[in-house]
Amino acid sequence: MAGYSIPTTERTERSTEAAYQQCLNPSCSATFGIDEAHFSCPKCGDLVDVVYDWDRLPVPRALSDFEAKWSRRLDPLCFSGVWRFRELLPFAPADRIVTIGEGQTLLQRADKVGAFVGMSTGNLMLQYEGMNPSGSFKDNGMTAAFTHARMVGARRVACASTGNTSAALAVYCSATDHGFKAIIFIGSGKIAYGKLAQALDHGALTVQIVGDFDDAMTRVREVSDRLGIYLMNSVNPFRLEGQKTIMYRVLEANGWEVPDWIVVPGGNLGNSSAFGKAFIELKHLGLIDRVPRLAVINAAGARTLNELYSAREVRWRSGLADSAKIGAFYNELDASGVKASTIASAIEINRPVNLKKCLRALEFCDGVVRQVSDQQIMDAKARVGAGGLGCEPASAASVAGAKLLREEGVIAPSDRVVCILTGHQLKDPTATVAYHGADQENFEKVLGSRGVRRAGFANRPVIVPNDLDDIIRTIALYSEAESAGA
Ligand code: F0G
Repeated sequence: MAGYSIPTTERTERSTEAAYQQCLNPSCSATFGIDEAHFSCPKCGDLVDVVYDWDRLPVPRALSDFEAKWSRRLDPLCFSGVWRFRELLPFAPADRIVTIGEGQTLLQRADKVGAFVGMSTGNLMLQYEGMNPSGSFKDNGMTAAFTHARMVGARRVACASTGNTSAALAVYCSATDHGFKAIIFIGSGKIAYGKLAQALDHGALTVQIVGDFDDAMTRVREVSDRLGIYLMNSVNPFRLEGQKTIMYRVLEANGWEVPDWIVVPGGNLGNSSAFGKAFIELKHLGLIDRVPRLAVINAAGARTLNELYSAREVRWRSGLADSAKIGAFYNELDASGVKASTIASAIEINRPVNLKKCLRALEFCDGVVRQVSDQQIMDAKARVGAGGLGCEPASAASVAGAKLLREEGVIAPSDRVVCILTGHQLKDPTATVAYHGADQENFEKVLGSRGVRRAGFANRPVIVPNDLDDIIRTIALYSEAESAGA
């Protein structure tokens, strides 16, 4: 386990604590109590992990032991799709946990989408994280980070966001009674309207700055540091503790069997990092005997991970990831003035804060990274809508990525593949309507400007005069066309 393990060295001063925090950098490895709030290592500035001394914690003998919780779901901690796995993120006392009933999500067998991807029947599954209360996977992380915020007595909580993080942050403030006040930072014009609506509706202080997500992220870190505000972006290691449970639910819905592939969009790389940590720990605890392969999918317009991992071969290297190569790439980005640009607004990120943790996950899970164009994303999104429960563009990157890996022969048709659909279909409706709509000018403005040339899977609305006979004739015509095509 040496190269992959969550660090546990040099923790003598923590020897009485079963859960603590530790710097990811092996040449630092500083440790901190669970009751402290650091969003980077105060000694060296690197990322921080939540670490457990499992020998001193009650761990289930088998994953199926968690099924006993289902009969106790009147207890909010057994009902929550995050906290019913509490023994696998044991950092909080039960009476400090902040939950709004998150994580009631679904793993759906999606054969029509599977056919589009090129899978054998029954082998593509979609994990719908858009079913969370605020409409995205973020609630998994927020419940854990809010729990920690409550443990450390924080009141003001902040994030930078393109929409989903801010909606989740705002709802955890409005729907709970612990005096939390939400502050969200957004880049001007860089937030999905429906998500801005959620933040405003839930009463968050919304600070709009000139710039994009990467700029807002830099500022929120500075402001949180200066004003002692609790930071809720995924650089917060407690967020990732909550997001591990997406993998537990995938296993649970799959009869505790490990699939062959997990395919996930890559933005700030919080999910991929959390999934890797989940599997490292499950393997360490003997709760699984094999690990799925991980595929992280960038948008081509925000391809930092793919460039660093696939082209420049940056690797985890036991925590000593090649920072010179990473720095050189960021300098190139700065020098060229290139900003992240993709229709998949949630992954329009050039400086992923969890890069190193993601490299660890890729190494442990024998991972691959790919990038997909906005055309591939929009086509995949339309297929998910037509053959599943629907998703936002960023989520569809996972399906587009799975298709690409099938075409390359990296994924076999007989592999069991789970694509994570991270956010709800009703985010970024402008993109969806531009794709399906008949308005060419709107298509060009919203999608053509991003290199999308065709809407090959469009379901066009039909324009009919306000006349009963015309309407009936049109319905007959379209029904005939449909049955002829069937
Ligand atoms: N998918 C969705 C729907 C997201 O909202 C995000 C991130 C990602 C994927 C990227 O996830 O960081 O785990 O790689 N959204 C952030 C936000 C930027 O502000 O809501 P990651």
